[in-house]
Amino acid sequence: MKTIVVYKSKYGSAKTYANWIAQELGCTAENVKNISVKDLMQYDKIVYGGGLYAEIIGGLFLITKNIDLLKNKKIAVYSCGITPLDCRDYYDKMVIEKNFKNGVPENVKVFNFMGKMIMDELTLVHRSALKTLKKIMSSKENPTEMEKLLVDLCDADGDFMDKESIKDLVDYIRN
Ligand SMILES: Cc1cc2nc3c(=O)[nH]c(=O)nc-3n(C[C@H](O)[C@H](O)[C@H](O)COP(=O)(O)O)c2cc1C
Repeated sequence: MKTIVVYKSKYGSAKTYANWIAQELGCTAENVKNISVKDLMQYDKIVYGGGLYAEIIGGLFLITKNIDLLKNKKIAVYSCGITPLDCRDYYDKMVIEKNFKNGVPENVKVFNFMGKMIMDELTLVHRSALKTLKKIMSSKENPTEMEKLLVDLCDADGDFMDKESIKDLVDYIRN
């Protein structure tokens, strides 16, 4: 059974997880920019991971737009974000709805990992985007719990990556 890990990563979180997973599975990790759907067709099992930006898993459309061609593959998708993993409504509803317009296909399982966000490493554009988001969310009169959390997350600054968290994904792909 041939397996590949593919990632899209701006600041290195999704890439770090890709390398950890590839090492466990004994396969290679490839940047999505070097991979086409034709390449993916050669594999039986595919792991795809990307950083979360406004709830979108970076580059995932390589999988979602080609899902008919990939329907016989076993696929694991992972996100890397800074929203705490116990925010299940966020991950299981918002993130799923934004990334899988027709629902999660039967051959796909989604996992969520904690990434990192180091303020000093962010581009000016990203820092401004977070500033604007914080301003909008802070100005709400009766913010929801989610909106309050988003305000706090705009100031998150740290590395929350956890190698142990890949275990379920690795088991899913192996079995
Ligand atoms: C502009 C911007 C938007 C972000 N949006 C989200 C988000 O919607 N949800 C989330 O959990 N994290 C969000 N993050 C945090 C990133 O997902 C986090 O830094 C992740 O580790 C990036 O992965 P990468 O380094 O592989 O690109 C955002 C970060 C930036 C800079």
